[in-house]
Amino acid sequence: MQLCETKSAIRDLHATWRQVGESIGLVPTMGYLHDGHLTLVRQARAENDRVIVTIFVNPTQFGPNEDLATYPRDMDRDLALLRAEGVDAVFAPSVVEMYDGAPETIVETTKLSRILMGRLRPGHYRGVATVVTKLFNITQPDRAYFGEKDFQQLAVIRRMVRDLDMPLDVISVPTVREADGLAMSSRNVKLTPEDRAAAPVLNRALDTAANAPTVAKAHKIIRDTLASEPRADIKSIDIRDAETLARVSGPITRPVVALLAVRFGNVLLIDQRVLTGEKP
Ligand code: PAJ
Repeated sequence: MQLCETKSAIRDLHATWRQVGESIGLVPTMGYLHDGHLTLVRQARAENDRVIVTIFVNPTQFGPNEDLATYPRDMDRDLALLRAEGVDAVFAPSVVEMYDGAPETIVETTKLSRILMGRLRPGHYRGVATVVTKLFNITQPDRAYFGEKDFQQLAVIRRMVRDLDMPLDVISVPTVREADGLAMSSRNVKLTPEDRAAAPVLNRALDTAANAPTVAKAHKIIRDTLASEPRADIKSIDIRDAETLARVSGPITRPVVALLAVRFGNVLLIDQRVLTGEKP
């Protein structure tokens, strides 16, 4: 496995692969890897000749009062995990390598970036769309892998790829969970033991709403379940069209997605579930 810290090093490497017609799968991450990330890596490994994983804690997607400075990092452990998965190259640039020269160009999905989590985190999806565009341009993959856990991020990236005719396939991977149902996240290690014990309430709320017949009923079930956990500080509960993220109401007759953002202490957790309104 090659570790590339510069854009030119990763470009030289993929040029040699391209010359012999090999396909490339890309898994963008911010590191501190867990089984959720590794599930994306395994799928990329199975579907491509070469796999590139990027590790870059992107400052432009963090707000001024967010957790950039305390975002967990462990490069040595990440590299060992990726080596064991048979990854071909890791691109791990410094902030200066990535953004040198005070760039003035941004990429933004003008509507999708301003709703839902975008209202809670202004500028976040612009930062994501811009860095993912840069990562696509630097690594030029055939396929790029993203988790459904970050459902709005996935919608933003799909829309951006479609609108800007980016020549690659976006592949989505279902959320990987801990044994007690908590969605795996690099931020879970920042929870206090008490908050960690309380956090599976997100998944429980989504489970309980899975077969609700109407949007209003699903919303009420989720709100009541979350409210039963005093440590959970509900930031948002949204039920939207699973494809467009447009508002929905009434009977659930086509897939909708329930999107939760809940704070425990100073850690913001998100989770999501597609609801079909059908009896199991
Ligand atoms: P990060 O939070 O490190 O996540 C990297 C990828 O792993 C994302 O596509 C995310 O959806 C996926 N992922 C995280 N937890 C998961 C889980 N429990 N199950 C399945 N997939 C999971 O998302 C980012 O980084 C950044 O915004 C990035 C896209 C790298 C741009 O900076």
